Amino acid sequence: MTAPTIEPVIEPVQAMDAAFAGRACQLLDQTGSPRPMALRRWTGAVDATDRTLLLERCRARTLDIGCGPGRLAAGLAMLEVPALGIDVSHEAVRQARQRGALAIRRNVFAPVPGEGRWDCALLADGNIGIGGRPVRLLGRVRRIVGPGGRVVVELDAAGTDVVHHRWRLRVAGRVTPVFDWAVVGLDAIERLAVTTGFVVEDVASVGDRHAAVLRQVATR
Ligand SMILES: C[S@@+](CC[C@H](N)C(=O)[O-])C[C@H]1O[C@@H](n2cnc3c(N)ncnc32)[C@H](O)[C@@H]1O
Repeated sequence: MTAPTIEPVIEPVQAMDAAFAGRACQLLDQTGSPRPMALRRWTGAVDATDRTLLLERCRARTLDIGCGPGRLAAGLAMLEVPALGIDVSHEAVRQARQRGALAIRRNVFAPVPGEGRWDCALLADGNIGIGGRPVRLLGRVRRIVGPGGRVVVELDAAGTDVVHHRWRLRVAGRVTPVFDWAVVGLDAIERLAVTTGFVVEDVASVGDRHAAVLRQVATR
């Protein structure tokens, strides 16, 4: 019997650093099968859908949570919307700054600058899945935006509800420990919003991409 191959371990943040730096990267599900990963979009330029679906809904001071290489934070700056990107990846923050975005290395679950005073928070391209517990994440974002603040959140198509995943990344011959992520569909957002002290103000779709705007309910 052959002994199973034990791959060297890499931390998720270092794996994201390597992926953003151009190393081939695979997202693996619990069975070890590869899942699609939109690295090309994250490292590319803002497109028309990003503009119509997301950027035009961020009308005032915006915190781009999990900004990646900063295409959206930089896109907001181009539109003269004050924006700050935060990301746990050094490489993401470096590239975001290179693109002209304001960005800092920060975990969304740690204190952020302007805590409680942001007009808007952006959770783009699957980032509602950060940490694997959307209620916890939206509860955190509720404290980041000010009273009446908004969250622009990109969602999966209806029919998904909330799906919890335990994923790993493989990059440069090394694999991360399992980390939690969640996928949230359009049909789950009303319930999540009510649970976490928001109302759904707007829902929009452009092609196969979808987003909702949540507004913080002041009395809670
Ligand atoms: C799906 S990518 C999205 C990138 C970007 N929003 C975009 O649309 O181009 C997720 C990003 O979230 C970052 N991230 C993951 N967990 C985080 C956390 N707890 N706090 C801040 N950023 C985080 C990752 O490093 C990665 O850059």
